[in-house]
Amino acid sequence: MQTLTYANNDRMPILGLGTWKSAPGEVGKAVREAIRIGYRHIDCAAIYGNEAEIGNALEEAQHSGDVSRAELWITSKLWNNAHATEQVGAALKKTLQDLHLDYLDLYLVHWPVACRPDVVFPTRGEHFLSLEEMPLSATWAGMEACVQKGLTRHIGVSNFGIGNLAAISSSAKIRPEMNQIELHPYLQQNEMLAYCREHGIHLTAYSPLGSFDRPAVLKKTGELSLLENPTVANIAKTHGCTPAQVLLRWSIERGTAVIPKSINPARLAENFQTLELKLGDREMAELAELDCSFRYVHGEFWTIKGSPYSLEELWK
Ligand code: A2P
Repeated sequence: MQTLTYANNDRMPILGLGTWKSAPGEVGKAVREAIRIGYRHIDCAAIYGNEAEIGNALEEAQHSGDVSRAELWITSKLWNNAHATEQVGAALKKTLQDLHLDYLDLYLVHWPVACRPDVVFPTRGEHFLSLEEMPLSATWAGMEACVQKGLTRHIGVSNFGIGNLAAISSSAKIRPEMNQIELHPYLQQNEMLAYCREHGIHLTAYSPLGSFDRPAVLKKTGELSLLENPTVANIAKTHGCTPAQVLLRWSIERGTAVIPKSINPARLAENFQTLELKLGDREMAELAELDCSFRYVHGEFWTIKGSPYSLEELWK
């Protein structure tokens, strides 16, 4: 499989399995099936609430000889309520315990947003900690300590704008090697792509299919559909493939990793077959025209009344 190479020559499979919204009771089967198909990169997060079941599936897959730990690339993410330097290692150890692993390949700061340790999802202004109270540099120091202790091989961030990325990079001993962000033809983030290429930071595209199965509170009326876009449909027709495959291949052609979520065996296989597809320059140019800076995961839940965060600061 095509891979993204890290500074120490570790290689991350460019296509991974997303597990956000994969419910307990479903996610284990999806992980087992994905590994059987050939997926070797699984994207997880503590907040998805399903790491224990993923851990059982990973253990079974290794015991049954389907795959070895060394062949797998496992990513997870630090939740917003464990941003203090000394909390980061404890949060990662809990994730490792749930995933039945000794180490992660990649650990990411999930959001550049902090909240109180006793709060999972802030519903009031006082649930948040501002970045003055809980600086990202303190969180990053905890992440670096995790690398030094061998709990994770690589560290990075998620949902960071260029401003926040530059801020932690400037004081980092170990620079972030990944930014996992929403990326698809409606949200191409070309400035971020250029910045990351220049600074040797990889990108992973989340919500590459538009995350139609998001909870209703995260949806807005009249949202654009990626899977029903006519340009995407025409390109799919030319190749005799599906719109989903065109969307996933768009990410791979741009040199970014991509983590479509599915719990359906046929769609898991369909998404994996994207690796066989190739898009031409003209098709990439047509898809480039679709950029309209449209976010499915808009981040407004971090900017509720009384919150110290604003969307301008978040995405800047
Ligand atoms: P399912 O899990 O039933 O396959 P995203 O990766 O952008 O978050 O999108 C995930 C959503 O897209 C889920 O609703 C998932 O449903 C659906 N999905 C995954 N793969 C495909 C595909 N190849 N074609 C259409 N829908 C898909």
